[in-house]
Amino acid sequence: MKIRKVVFPVGGLGTRFLPITRAIPKEMLGIIDKPLIHYAFEEAMAAGMDQFILVTRHGKNSIEDYFDYMFTHSQHFNIKNGSVCYVRQNEPRGLGHAVLCAKNLIGDEPFAVMSADDFILHSKSCLGEMTANYDGSNMVAVVRVAPEEVSKYGILDVESESERLVIAKSVDEKPSAAMAKSTHAIVGRYLLSSKVFDVLVNLKPGVGNEIQLTDALLKMIPSIGLTGFKFEGQRFDCGSKEGLLEAILHVASLDKSLKHVIDNFWEKKA
Ligand code: G1P
Repeated sequence: MKIRKVVFPVGGLGTRFLPITRAIPKEMLGIIDKPLIHYAFEEAMAAGMDQFILVTRHGKNSIEDYFDYMFTHSQHFNIKNGSVCYVRQNEPRGLGHAVLCAKNLIGDEPFAVMSADDFILHSKSCLGEMTANYDGSNMVAVVRVAPEEVSKYGILDVESESERLVIAKSVDEKPSAAMAKSTHAIVGRYLLSSKVFDVLVNLKPGVGNEIQLTDALLKMIPSIGLTGFKFEGQRFDCGSKEGLLEAILHVASLDKSLKHVIDNFWEKKA
């Protein structure tokens, strides 16, 4: 079944970017002239998505204003067809709760979830590669992380592994380095069965006292399975200052009109 709906959970507090996130949503932080959420939309469009669902909240209206503008300015935003809609997450209760807020807009079909702060540069589309490999099990993008980083991520316990896929027998949200079963970490790209809503609705809060999407994926492994997809391309953790800065430098270095600025900067420093 073709996947055409994508959920962007944009209701997070952005505490790692305070104080700017008191006034600007973290998804609106810029990589030069486009905000993170714009790049995520482009990746979703390249994957064939045409229904964009933003799970938003108080203080995030600039995202709505931004897409009002984009949908009428095709020179910036080449969307051929599609619609965007917004649903509110009244309190920040975690990623699983954010996804649950989109339940009535998804219905009974598989759908995608994307975190805009996982910025992935790829000649194609990471999400597009995932949809091309989707087999009906829940699917997450995975990347290898350093052992000291595992406690920031959902970590797969590996049943079997091939060149591009990791079949999980279990998954653990933000384990300690000592408890982690592997270094295959989930990044913010998911293809999910709509059955996830039946699980999320009954889920107790987990790590951080939040409703964790990872806990729902774990419960669904016996019935649906969980596959990690090893994507190509370069991923930047733009939920951190280091990752955002690296992404900005990387994008600038690929831009003929900006590369000299970086080169000159380092020459002057030397
Ligand atoms: C969320 C998920 C986690 C995943 C991460 C990827 O955590 O809960 O499993 O590895 O996104 O970015 P967060 O970064 O929102 O704390």
